[in-house]
Amino acid sequence: MGENSLTITDNRTGKTYELPINEGAVRAMDFRQIKVSDDDFGMMVYDPAFTNTASCRSEITNIDGEKGILRYRGYPIEQLASQSTFLETAYLLINGELPTRAQFVEWEHEITIHTFLHENTKKSMDGFLYDSHPMGMLVSTVAALSTHYPDSKNIFDDEVRQLQIKRLIAKMPTLAAFAYRHSLGQPYVYPDNDLSFTGNLLNMLYKMSEVKYLPDPVLERALDILFILHADHEQNCSTNAMRSVGSSQVDPYSAIAAACAALYGPLHGGANEAVLRMLKEIGSVKGIAKFIKRVKDGEDLLMGFGHRVYKNFDPRASIIKELAHQVFEVTGRNPLLDIALELERIALEDDYFIDRKLYPNVDFYSGIIYQSMGFPVSMFPVLFAIPRTAGWIAQWQEMLLDSEQKIARPRQLYVGQDERDYLSWDRRDNKAAAKEAVA
Ligand code: ACO
Repeated sequence: MGENSLTITDNRTGKTYELPINEGAVRAMDFRQIKVSDDDFGMMVYDPAFTNTASCRSEITNIDGEKGILRYRGYPIEQLASQSTFLETAYLLINGELPTRAQFVEWEHEITIHTFLHENTKKSMDGFLYDSHPMGMLVSTVAALSTHYPDSKNIFDDEVRQLQIKRLIAKMPTLAAFAYRHSLGQPYVYPDNDLSFTGNLLNMLYKMSEVKYLPDPVLERALDILFILHADHEQNCSTNAMRSVGSSQVDPYSAIAAACAALYGPLHGGANEAVLRMLKEIGSVKGIAKFIKRVKDGEDLLMGFGHRVYKNFDPRASIIKELAHQVFEVTGRNPLLDIALELERIALEDDYFIDRKLYPNVDFYSGIIYQSMGFPVSMFPVLFAIPRTAGWIAQWQEMLLDSEQKIARPRQLYVGQDERDYLSWDRRDNKAAAKEAVA
């Protein structure tokens, strides 16, 4: 087989196997031939939390965690953040290339005309408790859209699929804004299709009695940049959920609901909320030393630090830190920024964090920006889900069209009881009593 192979000797049997290496990986199924006897199932690889398992071949997002590189379809995130818009980036992620002018005009138009929700969706949102978490509302309501669009089940019909893609990108901001307005008891604001993607979102979130809402251009652009930065991040927890649930060939609304649910968790999309809570708890620059000690003693986590993939720096964090200053020129300086800056400075000089390669991630500053823009913390994961929808869709579509993909179904190492006979109530009670007596 030559140089591009891996030779394995099974010391249990003395047999040698040669496995081909492609793109720096060996196929897990190639291990199955390694057996101690004919009735042996064959060797598996054990990888809880998939820390070293590639679940797909993908052309969408490339991350080099050691070098701090993030590229969408080959374009560096820094260039996209400074020169692109979220809608253009979404097109790029989903279609593989930047749109021509004509393609973009059509794309923008198509997204814009799909921003409205069916009135019944609005009514069903009214059914949530007055103080419902907007992310919980988003998870449920996006799933419910599948009932409005039963055609969406035809996921292998390209025309149908493209329509759902546009609907999803267009309607997520409306769902998000309605969830927010509901949680405040404020009337829903319908989309204003004269405005940009993020301008319209700000309109639906913040418009009150004015005839026409005019978004602040700095905040509108800042939100657009934040959306570009959050649009995709290869095989993270929510994207894995999207691919895994989507692999059952369910409609995209149900799969997006699963991805949103994954994003809701504090170790993923909820981390920026946790950062704010942490900064408030620290209270002032004076409280940092005590907090760092708690982290080093294993009693707390420094939220917004560390990443499964980035082990040097998160390029999104550097862009966001810069963005924070632009936003604060409009909104006024967020007092939590001083604590964050000092916390970052101290942590980056501390051996605990240096040895573990813990650096600020995208969430360290994004929460402070969102808070300064007037968003409550409960909206943070919702604001993450809007742009990430583009990435989820791109990954979902790639999975559907990949002939190697099947329904996701991991294996397990069974470590439970061997076969045993069913116990009657009496025998169970006697066993429990005996156990208690010994204890
Ligand atoms: N604060 C303190 N210690 C940490 C932190 C942290 N934020 N993150 C990791 N560590 C420590 C671990 O305790 C472990 O220490 P040990 O070797 O002494 O046991 C070591 O660093 C390695 O950590 P792991 O948990 O193995 O790293 P993993 O890659 O599994 O976790 C994760 C990554 C979940 C992001 C983790 O760093 C974390 O919990 N960070 C805080 C939450 C956060 O900011 N999440 C947002 C991620 S970005 C996103 O989802 C968009």
